[in-house]
Amino acid sequence: MKITANIKEMQQIITEWSAQGKKIGFVPTMGFLHDGHQALLKKARLENDLVVLSIFVNPLQFGANEDLDSYPRDQEHDKKIAEKHGIDVIFLPDEQTMYPGPLSINLSVVRRTDVLCGRSRPGHFDGVATVLTKLFNITRPSKVYFGLKDAQQIAVVDALIEDFNFPIELIAVPTVREEDGLAKSSRNVNLLEQERSEAPYIQQALQHGREYVGNGENNSKEVIEKVRQFLERKTHGKIDYIELLSYPDLQRVETINQQVILAAAVQFQNARLIDNVIFNEY
Ligand code: PAJ
Repeated sequence: MKITANIKEMQQIITEWSAQGKKIGFVPTMGFLHDGHQALLKKARLENDLVVLSIFVNPLQFGANEDLDSYPRDQEHDKKIAEKHGIDVIFLPDEQTMYPGPLSINLSVVRRTDVLCGRSRPGHFDGVATVLTKLFNITRPSKVYFGLKDAQQIAVVDALIEDFNFPIELIAVPTVREEDGLAKSSRNVNLLEQERSEAPYIQQALQHGREYVGNGENNSKEVIEKVRQFLERKTHGKIDYIELLSYPDLQRVETINQQVILAAAVQFQNARLIDNVIFNEY
């Protein structure tokens, strides 16, 4: 397994592989790899000749009051995980390498971002789109792997690939969960004990919402209200949002008659958790 922090070197490796006709799979991450990330690595390993993992905590996608400084990091652990999955190269740049100076061009995501995390985290998806544009150009993959836990991120990457004609196939991987249903997240380590025991109710609340729809309720406001009542009863966390939108275009729906995402974000003391269910697939 090769590890490089250098953009030129990474690009050189890719050029050599491409000349040999190798299909490259790419898994972008911010590190502190858990089972969720591993599901992406596993799938990428199965579907490609060569797999690149990037680890970069991208400052551009963190707001001023967000957890950039406390974002968990453990490179030695990450290297072991990558090794276990037979990853060919880890691209591990530092901030100076990725952003040597102020950017001359801003990417601004203007659709699919005025809802869910985009609304609560202004500028977040601009930062995600910027770093991914750079990473896609550095690694030139055939396929990229993203987790459905961050379903809005997938919707934005889908638009990025489409709008800027990246010759890349986007692969969406189902959310990996703890046994009690809590979506695996690097931020779970920041939960207090009581919060950790309440956190699985987020997924349960969303599943209840999905069941209401399954049982014939098609008014989105009613469904959201039921989910809100359940969450307020079961957790002390502050509900940031509960939304029901068409997926992947993320438009508000009044009557549920298409594929939708039901998503929630809950702010605990030191961690903001998100989760979703996507249903009514056509
Ligand atoms: P990060 O939060 O490290 O996540 C990397 C990838 O792992 C994302 O595609 C995310 O959706 C996926 N993932 C996280 N938890 C998961 C889970 N429980 N089940 C399945 N997949 C899961 O997302 C980012 O990094 C960044 O925004 C990035 C895309 C790297 C750009 O900086």
